[in-house]
Amino acid sequence: MTATTDLYVKSHVARDLLQSAGLFKTDKLVVWEYVSNGLQYVSVGTNPDVRVSLDSKKKRIAVQDNGRGMDWPGLQNFFLMHGENIDRKEGRIGRGMFGTGKSAAFGIADTLRIKTIRNGRRSTVELSRQDIENMSSEDPITVNILEKETSTAEPNGTQVEIEGIHLKSLDQAGIIHYIERHLARWPKNATVYVNNHECEFSEPPVSDEFCFTPEGPLKEVLGDVELVLKVSKSPLDEELRGVAVYSNGVWHETTLAGSEGREMSQFVFGDIDVPQLDADKTPIRPFDISRSMRLNPENELVQAIHCFIGTKVEQVRRDLVEVDKRRRADEDTRKLAEQASEIARVINEDFEAFRQRVAKVRAKARGAFDPTKTTADGGDLDDDFIPGNTLPAKPLVIPHAEEPDPPPPPDEQIPPLPDETAQHRSQPPTLAVELAGDNAPNRGNAAGGSGVRRKPAGGFNVKFKNMGQDSQRAQYFPEERTIYINLEHPQLAMARGGRTVDDPVFRRLAYEVAFTEYAIALAQELEKRGEYLDPSDPLVDIRATINRVARRGAHLYSE
Ligand SMILES: Nc1ncnc2c1ncn2[C@@H]1O[C@H](COP(=O)(O)OP(=O)(O)O)[C@@H](O)[C@H]1O
Ligand SMILES: [Mg+2]
Repeated sequence: MTATTDLYVKSHVARDLLQSAGLFKTDKLVVWEYVSNGLQYVSVGTNPDVRVSLDSKKKRIAVQDNGRGMDWPGLQNFFLMHGENIDRKEGRIGRGMFGTGKSAAFGIADTLRIKTIRNGRRSTVELSRQDIENMSSEDPITVNILEKETSTAEPNGTQVEIEGIHLKSLDQAGIIHYIERHLARWPKNATVYVNNHECEFSEPPVSDEFCFTPEGPLKEVLGDVELVLKVSKSPLDEELRGVAVYSNGVWHETTLAGSEGREMSQFVFGDIDVPQLDADKTPIRPFDISRSMRLNPENELVQAIHCFIGTKVEQVRRDLVEVDKRRRADEDTRKLAEQASEIARVINEDFEAFRQRVAKVRAKARGAFDPTKTTADGGDLDDDFIPGNTLPAKPLVIPHAEEPDPPPPPDEQIPPLPDETAQHRSQPPTLAVELAGDNAPNRGNAAGGSGVRRKPAGGFNVKFKNMGQDSQRAQYFPEERTIYINLEHPQLAMARGGRTVDDPVFRRLAYEVAFTEYAIALAQELEKRGEYLDPSDPLVDIRATINRVARRGAHLYSE
């Protein structure tokens, strides 16, 4: 009677096994389970070599290793539910710890066959879902023995065959990726092939690397650990981001510890090995057998790890954001300068055409009026038609090498504006104005280079500047012949918004602003030299200039 009054915790082995199998939902998890066994359980001095064959058509996976193999007691241990890891028991802390080899295959398949050779003896055994499901009692499940300790000349090693796979197809790329990521932490002497592909972990190119060790109370909890954080040169794929957390080489989690999704966090990765995780025997365990790749955030040690990682990742990430901000600002400055000279080019093309046309009209008028009197209509005016003519300047005839035709006489031309900064590629290089040095009394020395063949000169400058939100949208400074575009004017500031300066919205507005200001500047210059007789003249002129230059810039509005 005593026997019936005792109380036991018992297990239904079959259900237990299938439950454990349920944790292996994907082919990559299953494959890695057997690959890692093959890599780990090798005889001393052997370089692990594991070959994985995937056959999507036959719904079959095979994993062959050159490990130490299993003898009969070894196999018995392999099939022992929750068997203690022999290596661990003997003090060799390795990667295995959960005894899931017998069940993993059943997460996706119906048959697990193991052929293993150890010391000249070969055994082949098979377990099928049918056998497991047929178990209605708590009795042990019988494993089919196909051969037991047959003598053989084959070397040590194990082949795991998984058949009757229920997946539609095998995710070869995913399996390779998963293995490669894990291999990052294995000794370099390990070789794994998946079909014909040799798995190799190649770390993303790194631009920076940092090493952190915990201090104070954190050090007491975590022990002598080292957190390595690396900054990738390019944004990382999601699965490569974050810090891989290991304990004694077993990978448990990858985390950014709270920095997920934050700016620049997609560049940060690294690793930390905390052996203390293995030693943690608190009731709330740091990890489970679920292969969820998540440590238990309720565990205190895990919390300490996350705290350490989180703080350091944030530190590195914030620096990255700072550097990136500066880099973008520099880039913006450079791009704005480029844009300014591009705008100046369009404006100066217009100015050059305008100048030529005026010259022609003048020549004609002069011809009709009195060809002998070159100054009758104020021909000298050409000379001083230099916007900002307070600057000492004189026209120069520069014959251009590519253009052998002699240029028209200088007095038929409105001299181009002296050029300060921008080079104007398309300008007909017929005339140049020498720009005087600051102290030159008048018509001083050339500033644009020496020798006869100088760069074509002339024109307006365009510059972007922060001039305050209450200042003009744009302003023309005759002394510098420069059109300033005010980046802080609300219209431009809005158009720029969060965009980069080469965004079309901003670019187009910048052109528009510059064109308008140029039209006014030109009228201003003409007015200054008494070109206008009627007060409505400049209005007509401004309208005409805007129209002209807008046409010239029309291509800017194409996609
Ligand atoms: N490929 C293999 N070669 C040699 N021994 C193996 C192999 N796979 C498993 N074993 C043995 O079987 C035991 C149970 O394996 P497994 O179920 O994967 O659990 P774990 O690896 O967590 O110990 C291992 O500890 C090891 O002793
Ligand atoms: Mg294992």
